Amino acid sequence: MGTIRFLLNGEDVALENPAPTMTLLEYLRETQALTGTKEGCNEGDCGACTVSVAAFEGDVLTHRALNACILFLPQLHGKSVRTVEGVSAPDGRLHPVQEMLVKYHGSQCGFCTPGFVMSLYTAHRDGRQDFDDVLAGNLCRCTGYAPIIRAAEAAAELPQPDWLADEADRLRAIAGGKDIELDGAFLPATLDSFANWYADHPDATIIGGATDVGLWVTKMFRTLDPTVFLHRLDEMQQIEVSDAGLRIGAGVTIARLRGAIIDRHPDFAELLRRYGSVQVRNSATIGGNIANGSPIGDSPPALIALGATVTLRRAAERREIPLEDFFIAYGRQDRAKGEFVESIFIPAQADTLKAYKISKRFDQDISALCGCFNITVEDGTVACARIAFGGMAATPKRASLVEAALLGQPWNDATISAAIPAFAQDFTPLSDMRASAEYRLLAAQNLLRRYFVESTASLSDTRVTGRGAA
Ligand SMILES: Cc1cc2nc3c(=O)[nH]c(=O)nc-3n(C[C@H](O)[C@H](O)[C@H](O)COP(=O)(O)OP(=O)(O)OC[C@H]3O[C@@H](n4cnc5c(N)ncnc54)[C@H](O)[C@@H]3O)c2cc1C
Ligand code: FES
Ligand code: FES
Repeated sequence: MGTIRFLLNGEDVALENPAPTMTLLEYLRETQALTGTKEGCNEGDCGACTVSVAAFEGDVLTHRALNACILFLPQLHGKSVRTVEGVSAPDGRLHPVQEMLVKYHGSQCGFCTPGFVMSLYTAHRDGRQDFDDVLAGNLCRCTGYAPIIRAAEAAAELPQPDWLADEADRLRAIAGGKDIELDGAFLPATLDSFANWYADHPDATIIGGATDVGLWVTKMFRTLDPTVFLHRLDEMQQIEVSDAGLRIGAGVTIARLRGAIIDRHPDFAELLRRYGSVQVRNSATIGGNIANGSPIGDSPPALIALGATVTLRRAAERREIPLEDFFIAYGRQDRAKGEFVESIFIPAQADTLKAYKISKRFDQDISALCGCFNITVEDGTVACARIAFGGMAATPKRASLVEAALLGQPWNDATISAAIPAFAQDFTPLSDMRASAEYRLLAAQNLLRRYFVESTASLSDTRVTGRGAA
């Protein structure tokens, strides 16, 4: 049976044959008496369990805030975990973020505080100062965010403490290696090895970032056996840029995807800024967000509007299909037994994408609906229209009849008004706790109008300011 190795607050850990779906939170609190890491929701929502995890992304050692409650032990192989117990100096001196939280009264009951410390510790290491985003996944019920932000800003002025050693060499020594087999889990080291194993074990549960699968265990108490973990597959974590477009490995996290598309499609990147929280985006993979087939996943509507394709692979065989064809019906995707999502391709194009996420809360909320519009207007006439929605049907779906009503028509208010009734033919949305069917339909129709207003406003902006043609 195999062994997984990682660093925990700088100490070497080797676990022989750990339970594959034991969470890091459970391990820390139940077996290591590291109870500073708190359990709040146990489903990735509150950030009380935040830890900082360092790992190589290519050649670069990165530090990421993650939720320990939905992180399985095998996902730690080759990484370095730091908990709230491991950030102060051996002689008791506080880390700058701890010191400033004390100074600026950033804690009252203190239950959330270890999570805030770890999110801010990670941001401090990276020099990140976008604190509203950094802390969107950390819930505090009593202090209020103003003192916490003041503390974060003050800590940002202070240097890295000298007691935090560089762990790069130690991590390099444990990160690589061969396939690992645990009782009930396979941790392949190469893509080929995974592809062949999965073709032989098509009933295994694939685990990407575990931001869905984690909840099957912590909330639904499901036993998963066997499991296969994708996080060691460097080939699946590549982002290839060519003249033709962007190819994104299925193992790329939402956080990295956001970085890769921010210049090409800023509105898609802005949509992803509202995807879960920093902790969720640091774990969740694009492959998981597609393969779970959710009708309310945020990336599929934007990708479909961009004309993305998905490459599916079974053993050595690959096929590439338009992403919209992957979603057949609720809970059913075009994926054969033993086949998995290998990569996603976004063709190069001028950016006319707008993505609108409608949710009850701005941060850290699931979409009631998500509308993505990619419309090209040439000489005042609609030359191309790709419109896709999440939350309006049993799958992410194109608004084909709306598109047809726009194509070849002048890009004006009359065309928008004429196209709007087609939404009711394209979609029969459901009512649920997030929104009523009537609300969803009306909001979708209004989003087309909003896209039109925004696109024409930016054209007249261009004319007024005399900037070059868009
Ligand atoms: C607190 C919280 C907030 C969230 N907020 C959002 C949000 O705002 N927007 C949103 O869209 N989602 C959100 N989610 C849902 C979740 O993050 C996504 O669905 C995520 O993309 C899943 O990716 P993962 O890598 O974590 O998948 P996993 O949980 O590892 O897997 C999900 C499913 O996909 C399968 N799978 C994974 N990778 C592959 C592959 N390469 N090939 C085939 N099958 C595969 C798994 O077997 C499983 O069935 C949230 C989740 C949490 C816990
Ligand atoms: S306990 Fe709430 S995010 Fe983990
Ligand atoms: S200090 Fe009490 S929840 Fe934040």
